[in-house]
Amino acid sequence: MKKPLPPPLSEQIIWLTGASSGIGAALLHGLSKRCQWLIISARNSDRLQQLAEPHPNVVALSADVTSRDAMQAVAADIAARFGRIDTLIANAGSCEYLDVRQFDSALVKRVIDTNVYGLVNSLEAALPLIRNSQRGYLVAVSSSVTYLALPQAQAYGASKAAVRYFMEAMRADLASEHIDVSVVSPGFVKTPLTDRNRFRMPMRISANVAAEAIIKGLQRRPWEIHFPRRFTWLLQLLGCLPADLRLALTRRAATRLPTSPQKQPD
Ligand SMILES: NC(=O)c1ccc[n+]([C@@H]2O[C@H](COP(=O)([O-])OP(=O)(O)OC[C@H]3O[C@@H](n4cnc5c(N)ncnc54)[C@H](OP(=O)(O)O)[C@@H]3O)[C@@H](O)[C@H]2O)c1
Repeated sequence: MKKPLPPPLSEQIIWLTGASSGIGAALLHGLSKRCQWLIISARNSDRLQQLAEPHPNVVALSADVTSRDAMQAVAADIAARFGRIDTLIANAGSCEYLDVRQFDSALVKRVIDTNVYGLVNSLEAALPLIRNSQRGYLVAVSSSVTYLALPQAQAYGASKAAVRYFMEAMRADLASEHIDVSVVSPGFVKTPLTDRNRFRMPMRISANVAAEAIIKGLQRRPWEIHFPRRFTWLLQLLGCLPADLRLALTRRAATRLPTSPQKQPD
């Protein structure tokens, strides 16, 4: 069967998770102007309603990505209203850094639950709807942290590496169904997630600039949408160094980081 053309953004029904803040909220503003319908989800339902209110084509359906039932309920609601989605943007995520002197498996589990099982629940809920599109598209937000194992990022980096692997395998398996798959690998973006960091974040960009880079990428559907390029290329290059050199670099970085790199939430 000939591969159908992807529908233009203006005809697409898009489901965006993690839309209540940061990159997701910026994507909401950018996408609502361009797509036909945008379904937004996150846990904070008041904030979602507030964000959706000015846009007649935005529907807010709150859900915790770590709950399979909640994600299935959102999918059932979307099925009843629209019967399909054309694009899923699995953007919901969280970041916590590990202090190895107080090794904390509960912290690791929290991060992996949100970033990995959250993605898995989102894919399971979205796939039947995506299969009703003429050419569906699955997008997951990973991170440029996957290019190089960084100190204190054991939980976050491992979760985002799992996202990358999972989506690459999905891309292979879904190609015969003409479903496209991309990962997004941002560098540092100014959002509530990074506002908590107490270390220097080189080349940090605004959430609006990140959202525009993602929207531009959505129209081409490459395997990976990464930005800002100068930063992601540099990390990719460092990631290709022989292991001894790479480890010497990251060992040095480890000695420079504050022992608690993240401010505690208020
Ligand atoms: N900022 C960066 O520098 C950067 C770099 C690389 C990758 N990323 C990735 O980009 C994505 C967005 O991050 P951000 O920087 O925009 O962070 P953010 O401002 O903290 O936003 C995170 C979003 O995810 C939602 N979320 C978190 N846990 C959730 C859960 N259990 N169920 C449903 N929604 C949940 C939050 O909404 P609720 O709290 O309302 O649920 C919020 O809308 C994340 O996947 C992050 O890992 C960010």
